[in-house]
Amino acid sequence: MNELGRLEDLPADYVEALKQQNLVPLWPSLRAVLPPGKPRPLTQPTFWSYEALRPLLLKAGELTPIEKAERRVLVLANPGHGLENMKASSAMYLGMQLLLPGEWAPAHRHTPNAVRMIVEGEGAYTTVDGQKCTMSRGDLILTPTGLWHEHGHDGSAPVVWLDVLDLPLVYYMEASYHVDGPRQAVQPGQGERRYARGGLVPTPVFERTSTAYPMLRYPWAEAKGALQALAADQPQLASVQVTYTNPETGGHAENILGFYAQMLRPGQTLRLPVRSPATVFHQIEGGTTVTIEGSAFALAEADTCCAPGWSEIVLANRSDTEPSFLFLADEAPLHTKLGVYEVRG
Ligand SMILES: [Fe+2]
Repeated sequence: MNELGRLEDLPADYVEALKQQNLVPLWPSLRAVLPPGKPRPLTQPTFWSYEALRPLLLKAGELTPIEKAERRVLVLANPGHGLENMKASSAMYLGMQLLLPGEWAPAHRHTPNAVRMIVEGEGAYTTVDGQKCTMSRGDLILTPTGLWHEHGHDGSAPVVWLDVLDLPLVYYMEASYHVDGPRQAVQPGQGERRYARGGLVPTPVFERTSTAYPMLRYPWAEAKGALQALAADQPQLASVQVTYTNPETGGHAENILGFYAQMLRPGQTLRLPVRSPATVFHQIEGGTTVTIEGSAFALAEADTCCAPGWSEIVLANRSDTEPSFLFLADEAPLHTKLGVYEVRG
């Protein structure tokens, strides 16, 4: 591949004349924006220990009342993107959010899509689009684009959850904003009850719902049960994984990011295919060594790590007697919709 001309190779007065006209020569930057063979992600393999961040998050509860924070969050930032940019990857934002007993995070809605994976504590709830979603360890709760949501806590101990948003992408698109609103009236009925039986969807008067997001809470007990059933039914199955889907469309639960639960059998090592999107791993139960491009991270319960797109990833269950359960988030729906999704080897 031939070397292209550099900016320094050009006469200074010529570069200045270009600048005056808001013009830039492409060739000095061409290889950077179109690297050969595969992308060069800024995203770095990064690990966040829950044991290390938990006291800092609880300290935030002492330092900053909820009224002064609105959402009390420590952002899990990837140093490859600069910590101040608050990105886990180019399209994913991760935050650990703390809600203390009696606190209430007021209603708002925004253009970025969010989900929360509940990490610890009982008694908190989030009301999304009028549905009261209780929070327990491992539950996944959606707050898709444009839906009102607010959080409350009737329990007696701190509640922590992991927020996953497509904020970096929506912000990059200059499409990110929020609107505050009044406290929502809770509607009777829960999507997760209406869609609790696989293969059966509600059809009052022969019509499927036109609601874009009919199911907002995915209880961990259901996801874990589905994984255990898969593993028991198909002992030869190498990768025991389920995808969180919209039960009406069968497609991904949200538009931009994908969400999955993965089980590793006792002692299992699983090499994932090299794929174009970045992936986040969060340990729900058990312990996994996640090796990303040669960097090994020992995930214990509630730990989180991020792998850039195009990386070689190996998951190893550290226990020979117990299964390991992981929550995964990735940018696959985005890549697929844009036609840039790739799997290699
Ligand atoms: Fe929000």
